[in-house]
Amino acid sequence: MAIDLDKKKETRVNNGIPAKPIEELRAWIEEARQQGAKEPEAMNLATVGMGGKPHNRMVLMRHFAEDEVGFFTNLESNKSNQIEANQHVSITMWWPELERQVRISGVAKPMDRSIVEAYFSSRPRNSQIAAWASKQSQPLSSMDALHTRFRKHELEFQDGPVPLPEFWGGFAVTVKEIEFWYGRPHRLHERLFLVKNASGWTTTRMYP
Ligand SMILES: Cc1cc2nc3c(=O)[nH]c(=O)nc-3n(C[C@H](O)[C@H](O)[C@H](O)COP(=O)(O)O)c2cc1C
Repeated sequence: MAIDLDKKKETRVNNGIPAKPIEELRAWIEEARQQGAKEPEAMNLATVGMGGKPHNRMVLMRHFAEDEVGFFTNLESNKSNQIEANQHVSITMWWPELERQVRISGVAKPMDRSIVEAYFSSRPRNSQIAAWASKQSQPLSSMDALHTRFRKHELEFQDGPVPLPEFWGGFAVTVKEIEFWYGRPHRLHERLFLVKNASGWTTTRMYP
């Protein structure tokens, strides 16, 4: 018997081709949020470490521009040191609520300090103090030691706003490739692979 294939075979956007991929990505994040995703901006960020070894971890996608996404972090962390040595990064996001995945390849550069300032000042006060307290990616003797550092900075800044630490910032990733993956019945998933060129984006439909 013939299987009941998905009637809506191709995506709705411009005959399946997102004209503005970063806007499409933002729309997916919002859809996931509406569907109850707790951290719809969570992304797996892969960098290249010493000896060409890949290294990945989760961060939050908290910056969007025309062909750019970005995240905030400690500038002395492993990821930041790795990006300083090799700017090529790879990102994946997955929203089980939507059954969709996005994969990005791009080149990271330090974020403008004005954007970092604006973001840092929008963070809850305790997150700002935690940024001061954490020597991210360095060995820590105990959780008590971390809490002691938190309290020290809490006292230090008790009379005013928490300033932006010099060692804290972000990276903007210029998107060179982006792939949209739509889960479909019977594993007949849909993949659209977009590559940036001088005049816009070239899209290739891929077998799943
Ligand atoms: C859901 C989630 C979101 C996270 N978001 C961030 C983030 O935005 N920035 C950050 O520096 N670390 C974030 N972290 C912690 C990182 O995964 C990681 O442990 C930390 O940045 C140190 O990584 P590194 O040693 O590779 O530099 C997040 C962790 C999780 C689980």
